[in-house]
Amino acid sequence: MPVPDAPPSCDAVHHPLFARFYVRLSNAADVRAGVGAHREELLAGLSGRVLEIGPGNGLNFCRYPTTVTEVVAVEPERHLRQLAAEAALRAHVPVDVLPGTAGSLPVASASCDAAVCSLVLCSLGDVRQALGEVRRVLRPGGELRFYEHGRAEGRRGMLRVQRALDATVWPRLFGGCHTGGDPVGEIRAAGFTQISFRRLMVPEKGPVQPSSFHVLGSARCP
Ligand SMILES: C[S@@+](CC[C@H](N)C(=O)[O-])C[C@H]1O[C@@H](n2cnc3c(N)ncnc32)[C@H](O)[C@@H]1O
Repeated sequence: MPVPDAPPSCDAVHHPLFARFYVRLSNAADVRAGVGAHREELLAGLSGRVLEIGPGNGLNFCRYPTTVTEVVAVEPERHLRQLAAEAALRAHVPVDVLPGTAGSLPVASASCDAAVCSLVLCSLGDVRQALGEVRRVLRPGGELRFYEHGRAEGRRGMLRVQRALDATVWPRLFGGCHTGGDPVGEIRAAGFTQISFRRLMVPEKGPVQPSSFHVLGSARCP
């Protein structure tokens, strides 16, 4: 007998509670924790066709500069994808929101000038495979822009907290997110070159959280 509320088998990522919580959290963080300004910096100067993986509710869309000719955004979570499609209508550039996952992007090889990873690598089961896919769809010399959080470099106490949380409640509460990843190390290991980035705390002031340790930067596809 069919179960009406069962998640459709085509949804590779199904986090309905987190998706709703993330909408509130992300809108508040944009304003109160300075994330909106970081998003502006992440996207400034981009041009041509851009891939965005896991756009969530689409908070980056209205910030793409008009030098971008098209954004292809791949979002697996149904509720967030619906919100992303609505955000796409408010963008200043054409945005196409597609279902799919970072590990198998529904995008042709070497068809994008740039790719954007924004607070998404922490939630992927296989970061290496996803970055391999990003390399595949980027043209040679294409640019990867990233804004990610990760491990608390040089802070032993916080590293221990991150490890404990990642092994227990954090991924369950936050849609598969892990706090102790190494986004720059993963980008380097995936073969990207010309990596440049800066570290920043989010929020910049106030109590330090396990997810406060951010990097914002760019890299090139060889
Ligand atoms: C913390 S949210 C970040 C959303 C958005 N990028 C932003 O900057 O606000 C993580 C996003 O990654 C997406 N995600 C999770 N697993 C994914 C996968 N395998 N492939 C692509 N996106 C994924 C989630 O659905 C969610 O939209």
